[in-house]
This record gives sequence, structure tokens and C-alpha cells, in this order.
Amino acid sequence: MTDIRSAVFVKSSPDNKNLPPEKYPEYAFIGRSNVGKSSLINMLTLKENLAKTSGTPGKTQLINHFLINDEWYLVDLPGYGYARVGKDQKQKFEKMIDDYLTERGTLMNTFLLIDVRHEPLANDLDFIQYLGESALPFSLVFTKADKLGPVRLLENVERYKGVLLQSWEELPPIFVTSSEKKLGRSELLNYINTINQSLKND
Ligand code: GTP
Ligand code: MG
Repeated sequence: MTDIRSAVFVKSSPDNKNLPPEKYPEYAFIGRSNVGKSSLINMLTLKENLAKTSGTPGKTQLINHFLINDEWYLVDLPGYGYARVGKDQKQKFEKMIDDYLTERGTLMNTFLLIDVRHEPLANDLDFIQYLGESALPFSLVFTKADKLGPVRLLENVERYKGVLLQSWEELPPIFVTSSEKKLGRSELLNYINTINQSLKND
């Protein structure tokens, strides 16, 4: 089991030109506003207030780097698909995210978060399409599992897989999580650890 010995906020960057140097492998969290990206970072690090969370969508507006164990970064990104931000702001976020994902040399994996309560939504499916077409390694992380009973939870995950298999031959790695109940923590940390170890052996 991967141990979090330290988790430290490093920097908030408004764009790609201001990021910390590409010194450590990093793992980004992306998804619709309010899906639980920042909460998941706090859950993984067991630090309640490391990343800023809010019940109001649009909380995270910058690219936030958190250094873990002095060895790797977790990166909290702004959400997409938030209807109430203006068009200019929306385009700014989208460009920020796109530049970051496509240009960051040390980005090892992107975790795309999806609220497990919702049926597959067009902008999430579009984002999956974009990640696939850009050949960016990614995994799916279902969030807020505590909000459904076990039967609905399984149904929703299976329904999502079914939709993905209509356009993809293979499914990406899939994690089911709850920040509230700390569900899926060791699975996610072990996955990251496996990638970090494989980099050391290269
Ligand atoms: P933006 O920064 O606005 O894009 O949002 P975000 O994706 O970072 O979401 P955030 O972590 O701020 O969480 C949004 C809301 O969902 C907050 O009210 C959280 O308390 C709640 N939330 C997040 N994860 C969970 C979870 O696993 N279970 C439950 N019940 N609520 C959650
Ligand atoms: Mg956030």
C-alpha cells in the first residue's frame, strides 16, 4: 500500500507558461465542475483542506500542483461544463486545460472524474473522445459512490461501460470512489505507485 508521507501545496498557475519545472511525474484530475476533483485529492492525501472545495461549481480556477512524498505531483484542474461561467471564461478554461494536457511532458496519467449518479453526459463522452484521439493515457474515476445504494451503483457503472464499448474496443482502467467514505483510496494510490515504480525501472 502506498503511503502518503507528505503532501504539500506548491503552486497555482494561471496558464501553461507558469507551471513548476517538469521535475516529477504528475497525475492530473479533470472533470465537470463540482464532480469532486478537489475533494478526491484531499481524500487521497488525508488532508481535509489541502485543495479548496465548494458546494458551488467553478471553485478551482487555476492549475494547482501538490507535491507528494517529495516524489510526484497531484494536479487539481478547473472543471469543464459549468454553464454559468461566461463564454470567454469557458474558452479560457478549455484552452488552459487543453494546453496543459497536450504539452506537459511529465504528465503520466489523467484521471477523468465522473459523478456516478448521472447517466453518461455528452461533455464527458466528448472529453473521453478527446483524450483517446490525443493518445493521452487516462483512467475513469466514478465519484460520490456513497450517494447510491449498491445495486444502483453497479447498474450505473455497467451502463457507462456499455456506452463506452459502443465506440471503444477496450475500456480504460476504472475506479469507483467516495471521498466521503474514503472508498477507492488504496486502489488509486496503488495504481499511481505502479506507474511511479515503472518509471524508476526504465
Ligand atoms: P470545481 O473545482 O468547482 O470544478 O469542483 P470539484 O470537482 O473540485 O468539486 P469539489 O471537490 O469542490 O466538490 C464539490 C461538492 O461535492 C462539494 O460540496 C463536496 O463536498 C461534494 N463531494 C465531493 N466528493 C464527494 C463524495 O465522494 N461524496 C459526497 N457525498 N459528496 C462529495
Ligand atoms: Mg475543485
